[in-house]
Parts: sequence; C-alpha cells; structure tokens
Amino acid sequence: MSGSITFTMVKPGSVADGHAAHILAKIVEGGFNIKAMKMCRLSKEQAEAFYAIHRDRPFFASLVSSMTSGPVIAAILEAENAVENYRKYIGATNPSEAVDGTIRKIYGKSIEANAVHGSDSDANAEIESDFFFSKFERF
Ligand code: CMP
Repeated sequence: MSGSITFTMVKPGSVADGHAAHILAKIVEGGFNIKAMKMCRLSKEQAEAFYAIHRDRPFFASLVSSMTSGPVIAAILEAENAVENYRKYIGATNPSEAVDGTIRKIYGKSIEANAVHGSDSDANAEIESDFFFSKFERF
C-alpha cells in the first residue's frame, strides 16, 4: 500500500486502562497500516518539546503531566490521505464532541485524556514521526 503518513500515540491513560490492544486493533481495522511502533515513557523535557506549540496554553503543564504519567504507544501510520482520514477516524479532540464509534468517543475520558494523539498536518506528521523514530525503525 502507498499513501501518506500520520503519527499517533495511544496516551498513558488508555495504556493504563488496558485499552491499547483494542485501540491498535481498531486502528488497523480502519485501514491504517502500521509502519513503525514502540512503547516508551516520555520524560518531562520530551513531552514539553513534543507539545511545544501549546507551551503558552493554560492546559500545557497539565497536558505534559498526563503525557508523562506512564508509557505511551507511538506509531507511524500509512493510508490514503492519512492525516485527514485518521483525524476523522479518531474523532474530535474533546471526546464529548466526538462522533459515535470513533476512538476518542469510545475510549476518551476528557479533552486531555482523549485516548490518542493524531497529527494535524502532513508537515507535523513528519516532524512528530522523526521525533520518535529513526529510519532504522520504519518499515
Ligand atoms: P492531542 O491530539 O494530543 O494534541 C494536543 C492535546 O492538547 C490534545 O490532544 C488534547 O489532549 C490537549 N488539549 C487541547 N485543548 C485542550 C484544552 N482546552 N484543555 C485541555 N487539554 C487540551
């Protein structure tokens, strides 16, 4: 399969709740091909760097705290129009506004603990993928 890529993370709350395998299965069922994947725990500095665009937002410290509370599962996904289609597939940032059947609607608990991250542009998909994965970790 060829297409474009997006970057995702199963967030710490979903991993801690035992939902990671279900979420990954749903991602694959949705037609997203896993090109790279790892489980890791972000340091405070890494989470601050990853979410640097939100540095001035009031929720930044809390977001960093929740993203460092335990391991994440990070992955690069490939699909046709991957960024846009994946964002549709996971649902709105706030799970309470997400469409029924989307990952965030099913597994999200709050706007912060919203189950998964998804890149918001092709440029950020590349930056975020490079943040987590070397070229030897991609297939
Ligand atoms: P994510 O896709 O990981 O990208 C940035 C994250 O910031 C987002 O998901 C939310 O978890 C979080 N976020 C965005 N807006 C808010 C908000 N208003 N309050 C708390 N967290 C937010």
